Amino acid sequence: MITEGLKGRDFINLRDFTREEIDTMIEVGLQLKADNTIRRRHDDILPLRTLFMMFFNPSLRTRNSFEAGIFQLGGHGHFLQPDATRLPTLEGEDQGYGSERISDVARVLSSMGDAIAIRILGDKVNWEYEKSQKIIKEFAKWAEVPVINMEDNKDHPCQGMADLMTLREMWGRDFTGRKVGVTWTWGSSPKKPIAPHHDFMYVASLFGADITFARPKEMRIDPEIEAAIKANVELYGGSYTVSEDMNDACEGADVVYAKNYVALDLLPPVTSKPQPEEMVKLFDKYKNWIADEKRMNLAKPTAQYMHCLPCERGAEVSDAVLDGKWGTACFHEAENRLHAQKGVMACIIP
Ligand code: CP
Repeated sequence: MITEGLKGRDFINLRDFTREEIDTMIEVGLQLKADNTIRRRHDDILPLRTLFMMFFNPSLRTRNSFEAGIFQLGGHGHFLQPDATRLPTLEGEDQGYGSERISDVARVLSSMGDAIAIRILGDKVNWEYEKSQKIIKEFAKWAEVPVINMEDNKDHPCQGMADLMTLREMWGRDFTGRKVGVTWTWGSSPKKPIAPHHDFMYVASLFGADITFARPKEMRIDPEIEAAIKANVELYGGSYTVSEDMNDACEGADVVYAKNYVALDLLPPVTSKPQPEEMVKLFDKYKNWIADEKRMNLAKPTAQYMHCLPCERGAEVSDAVLDGKWGTACFHEAENRLHAQKGVMACIIP
């Protein structure tokens, strides 16, 4: 398999990669997954490599899939909590001995290891939408090793890769004629990220799916991502339709991706500070937006429910959906975080 041009690259957002490059990383991940089932060892792929994993926010899937994944490839993952090491800061935000400039942190970690992975979003950047990816890009500017985005406010490319792997396992490489229903749902807190929606629709649009995206009118996605999805549809076929009725996403769907996410118009930079109470009031106008049996019965009989997890049961999805015949793909999606990220690491870490 040709992986030329990928070694040493940062993995910050999927739009930095061609469809063929994404395809290559998925194929490598799928091969590693197939080998995993027969316990074939792959610890010669990244022997003795160190991955530094810097988590500003909590994680179950991302931390454990990266830690297990780098180990299975022969390397080692270090878990770093920024507030335990000293807060990495941008120029102008230094806090004396309590912080350390990102330019310095990135160069020091580069001298000791082989890749730096970072998760930073939400309240850790005071909900400033663009700031989290700016911080990850600042690490990439100074690091001499690949930098991996483990989720920021805008992108969750590792989740997108696992979603793509899951869709590919169900349908093969060509998604032509597959209806992908994507929808916002109600949620009880004004904190859930929008990045998984972005990357799910982006990868589905790379391979020709017919996407119907349902959301209340106030719940727009990032226009840059929407433009990228439309550009993919122009290039690779399929379609992208937006609706204000959740049923439109579910009717006849092969997959229903249903999750709550924050209202971008109630967060900086649109507002001067986050508006959590306004957001809860807005969400509560749409309390019936839930992926329940009634909605899933509108989809094809073989339809699957998808969500990046963790999900809010009873708000985003009913127990009967997640624990019933519709929920299988959701747990494959979680498992595929391991295999997809192994594909990414095997391709980009020198
Ligand atoms: N989907 C996902 O990123 O899960 P974690 O927050 O548990 O890492």
